[in-house]
Amino acid sequence: MAGSGQPLTAPAAVIVIFGAAGDLTKRKLIPALFNLASQELLSSHAMVGIDRVEMDSETYRQTLSEEIESYVGSGFKQDLWDANVGKVYYTPGDFRNPESYQQLKTLLLEVDKEQGAPGNYLFYLATPPSFFGVIATELGKAGLAQEADGRWRRIIIEKPFGRDLESARELNVTLHQSFQEHQVYRIDHYLGKETVQNIMAYRFGNGTVEPIWNHRYIDHVQITVAESLGVEDRASYYEEAGALRDMVANHLLAVLSVVAMEPPNSFEADAIRDEQIKVLKAIQPFDPERVLTNTVRGQYGEGVQGDAERLRAYRDEPGIADDSSTETYVAMKLMIDSWRWAGVPFYLRTGKRMPGRYSEVAIQYKHAPNMMFQGARERRKGFASNHLVLRLQPNEGISMEFNAKVPGTEFNVSRVRMDFDYDDYFEESTTSSGYETLIYDSLCGDATLFKRADNIETCWELLQPILDVWQALPPRNFPNYPACSWGPPEADELLARDGYAWKRSE
Ligand code: BG6
Repeated sequence: MAGSGQPLTAPAAVIVIFGAAGDLTKRKLIPALFNLASQELLSSHAMVGIDRVEMDSETYRQTLSEEIESYVGSGFKQDLWDANVGKVYYTPGDFRNPESYQQLKTLLLEVDKEQGAPGNYLFYLATPPSFFGVIATELGKAGLAQEADGRWRRIIIEKPFGRDLESARELNVTLHQSFQEHQVYRIDHYLGKETVQNIMAYRFGNGTVEPIWNHRYIDHVQITVAESLGVEDRASYYEEAGALRDMVANHLLAVLSVVAMEPPNSFEADAIRDEQIKVLKAIQPFDPERVLTNTVRGQYGEGVQGDAERLRAYRDEPGIADDSSTETYVAMKLMIDSWRWAGVPFYLRTGKRMPGRYSEVAIQYKHAPNMMFQGARERRKGFASNHLVLRLQPNEGISMEFNAKVPGTEFNVSRVRMDFDYDDYFEESTTSSGYETLIYDSLCGDATLFKRADNIETCWELLQPILDVWQALPPRNFPNYPACSWGPPEADELLARDGYAWKRSE
């Protein structure tokens, strides 16, 4: 997270991607590296891919070259790719075999020499989670985790970080046997999104926002991450994960922590992360009773998109069990026991196969204390509250909905909207996936947007009772929402009980 002014070129390093033949690498990581090169933020960098697939560097380069344009999109520049593709290397390897790490070590020395790199290595673990621990351990054993003579070694761990509290703790212990905490970068690409970072700029960079960012003025908060896609080709991962682990444990709680944290004393990584952990720890814990009343899970059934396109039920997707009880939708109500947020409900929801793809934070303010306009007292319930909507994606921006006088002789009031769109102000693309910022920051040694061990464990502590109750009581009504709908009716009831409704993106 660069400060004000021109960002500097990241310190030279070799980026080693474990899982180099996988989807994440070609869809997100290589395009992100390309975008960084395009913005001239990389200097003497090289990339080494390692995976189980047998191929040489030349074949790997060719494979990437065939697809890179489609993943980078309109910003793709063929000449830039041609100039950089020679810095991409590949070595086949079995992540569990110590021999592979010796080969990697030899290759890294060659790459350092060829590219004039100073021996800094960034290991990116874009693999199935079951490999995170073993890769860290083997890197340690091969001497590749050791920092010396000013050369750094860092490791980026993809999500999901553990599948429950116990496994997350174990993974932290394993990582710490080879890497020190300052070398570990636990990624959550939502924290890298421009619009999520902008929540901090909006809250802490404006004198008018923070004074009313509390229980005195805010009625409740809704955080939505809706996806129109289904499970795609990730059946084996998703069947094990489900929406709670895949989205809530990381992205939704990350957004919540940025929305609800206290202002940090400085913009230092630990100052920010300390505040985030404080707010996560202040969330009222779930007991079994609250799990039953304050959480909703769902799974999509068949549905129809638009006029005709039939969408398969989750249980009919390739690789999914006919009787799967994996949730593809979660909604929940959280309360934060802090001075600032006492009595303010936070409603979170996320789901696959929703009618649209959008992520936003909707803040509903309390009514004005005295509605003196004609008829307003009686109509008070229906009188629109002010809403602030932070649109994280797409249509990135912020809108404020408030009441204005309808022109005319009568004093009627109607809801209007004031909009800020990124596109109107900034040339820089906000469509970056978040990975650009996060890779750049990790090369620069800035851990602000990465999760510390305590953050991860606190999130699991919060969610563990939900996992336990859901496991003990398998769902009896799945599938309970049609594909291309806004989730199960129970999610609407969760809010209706408190007199609210989910805000629909407009
Ligand atoms: C990933 C999840 O972390 O985030 C996916 O594993 C999800 O299931 C994705 O689709 C959503 O990210 P984005 O940036 O497209 O909103």
